[in-house]
Amino acid sequence: MAQKVQFVETVLRDANQSLIATRLPYDKFEPMLETIDKAGYYAIECWGGATFDVCLRYLNEDPWERLRKIRARVPNTKLQMLLRGQNVLGYSHYPDDFVKLFVQKAVENGMDIIRIFDALNDVNNLKVAMEATVNAGAIASGTISYTTSPVHTHKKYVQMVRELKEMGASTICIKDMAGIMGPQEAYDLVSAIKDAVPELPIDLHTHSTTGLAFMTYLKAVEAGCDIIDTAISPFSGGTSQPATETLAYALRQLGYEVDLNDEATKAMADYFKTVRDGFIADGTLMPKSMATDTQCLNYQIPGGMLSNLLSQLKQVNALDRFDEVLIETPKVRKDMGYPPLVTPTSQMVGVQAVRNVLDGKRYKSVSKEIKAYCRGEYGRTPAPIDPEIQKQILGGEKPLTGRYADTLAPVVDKARQKLGDLAKSDEDVLSYIAFPNLAEKFLEERKIKEENEGTYTIVACE
Ligand code: CO
Repeated sequence: MAQKVQFVETVLRDANQSLIATRLPYDKFEPMLETIDKAGYYAIECWGGATFDVCLRYLNEDPWERLRKIRARVPNTKLQMLLRGQNVLGYSHYPDDFVKLFVQKAVENGMDIIRIFDALNDVNNLKVAMEATVNAGAIASGTISYTTSPVHTHKKYVQMVRELKEMGASTICIKDMAGIMGPQEAYDLVSAIKDAVPELPIDLHTHSTTGLAFMTYLKAVEAGCDIIDTAISPFSGGTSQPATETLAYALRQLGYEVDLNDEATKAMADYFKTVRDGFIADGTLMPKSMATDTQCLNYQIPGGMLSNLLSQLKQVNALDRFDEVLIETPKVRKDMGYPPLVTPTSQMVGVQAVRNVLDGKRYKSVSKEIKAYCRGEYGRTPAPIDPEIQKQILGGEKPLTGRYADTLAPVVDKARQKLGDLAKSDEDVLSYIAFPNLAEKFLEERKIKEENEGTYTIVACE
């Protein structure tokens, strides 16, 4: 029997996030939801990551309502979200009561698979979210943030996978957020994980940024990878995932079983081409995002981080220091114990590298996030932080030894009280805790809108 390869469609989340800064409003993809549901995907990644933040910040959408609307129109295919472990959808750690309630409500509102990762691969930061996912009856996809460094060995990744299994993971995701994984690495890592836990399906997630992705997926599949993440062609390539239809075509030619419905993917491609062209016309989708960029391979820096570094330097009129920053970035990463570069560590390391170069003295000034990192608030680092530098940053302060979230007081009841009748549900309370200012503004505007609608009804009855 032919080996079966399943697909996760990313157009609603990662492709949307990587190419057009998550600016795809619900109305623009609604007409395609029923077609997507018929296309035969293993899952649709449609929520989490930056979608929640951007719904509130720029699109004036209630992210919870978006999820319920998608669920109603996609009854047959699994819905998947990306969750930053103890950071949930934010940039620092939350207390456990928030993490648990958030996961529970995500599942109640329709989520089937929660892909849970930690920027440091510290399993202590995954535990609570994993447990809550299993308790809510959803699929916990335990995730490795993939990176390369002298301390990131296959042995360590396999060890992590075993721990994820202990915690209740029913699938394993290898998350190559920078698109730096080559075909041989994919083959070797997937083989090593398959040998250790053959019962767990493996999902490989990568980006086309460096151009490796198609080759990497092929070799991963050859090693037994079960699921790959792809984007429908008009939203594929560049900083996004490789194209769904292309991989379906190639894999079938190689003798693999692919369950996708070509008529449905064709309809999706036709539709999303028009949507994409709209974003090109208004400048949201920049040609640079669609291009292949091999610089990430030389510096092992994710594409998104390179553009952040450039824009930081541009703001202070110091673009001529870019080469120095590129050399400094891996040094900072080494000092910090080789964190994988993914949200939020990618931002923290990048900002520090820029400071070190512009200040003319390393660690003369540090952000409050780097200080918190050195205190241990983000968890256990892959290798120890350089002790000299840690001491310089912390002064006499002692770093934490336990789990930071254990030191945080519960927040849910307090937020519920503070919001009063502005919150109509626990979902509102959760939005508020995640993004207080944005959610409060959103809830206030909703209230005013509803009050006005009430008035309008009375006027209209006269
Ligand atoms: Co990604």
